[in-house]
Amino acid sequence: MEFEKYESSSADEVKKLFTSVFTDSEGQDEGELIGNLVFEMQETTKPDDIFGFIAKNEKNIIGCVFFTRMEFENKINAFILSPAAIATQHQKQGVGQKLIEFGINYLKKKNVKLLFTYGDPSFYSKIGFKYISENIAKAPLKLTYPEGWLAQSLVSENVEPITGNSTCVSALNNQKYW
Ligand SMILES: CC(C)(COP(=O)(O)OP(=O)(O)OC[C@H]1O[C@@H](n2cnc3c(N)ncnc32)[C@H](O)[C@@H]1OP(=O)(O)O)[C@@H](O)C(=O)NCCC(=O)NCCS
Repeated sequence: MEFEKYESSSADEVKKLFTSVFTDSEGQDEGELIGNLVFEMQETTKPDDIFGFIAKNEKNIIGCVFFTRMEFENKINAFILSPAAIATQHQKQGVGQKLIEFGINYLKKKNVKLLFTYGDPSFYSKIGFKYISENIAKAPLKLTYPEGWLAQSLVSENVEPITGNSTCVSALNNQKYW
């Protein structure tokens, strides 16, 4: 198993991975939605505002995760992890945790201070994320599942409160993902 930075030459393979993983876990409509999201994210996000990482087995991509920039009035260097997918037959073998940790270490070197995600706390708590109230940091859109609003500081123990609104990249700026 190897972990690498995502390159756009893998765009089609990565789109297929997200589509098939989310089709298996949540049905065909969700599979297509997330496959298209990943494609749009790469097409529309400025290079400084997106990082992707892949897990490779032999020559095949079996996992992928993206981080995109979130902006607050105080200009803190913050990113949100979304989405992540591990090929269905490779799930629950530790690949997701290792891939995300690989990504987080890279982001630390790039001076990122704060990470968010929006998902299942029972998985993301294994890699340092904790539930945060929107009194600590506001989500960019209305949360339909507030228990899934999670964050971790990459520079201190706790997430310090941030005042004001947040914005995400345009690909994620759609209520259907929140
Ligand atoms: C969620 C996902 C990225 C996790 O990656 P993974 O490689 O399967 O996870 P790992 O093997 O590294 O870690 C699994 C651990 O988290 C736990 N866990 C909790 N919730 C989980 C969940 N929804 N999915 C997978 N594992 C989960 C497992 O019990 C396991 O615990 P253990 O290490 O104590 O045994 C992957 O399963 C996946 O792609 N799922 C479908 C798509 C999805 O839900 N993506 C995330 C939302 S964007």
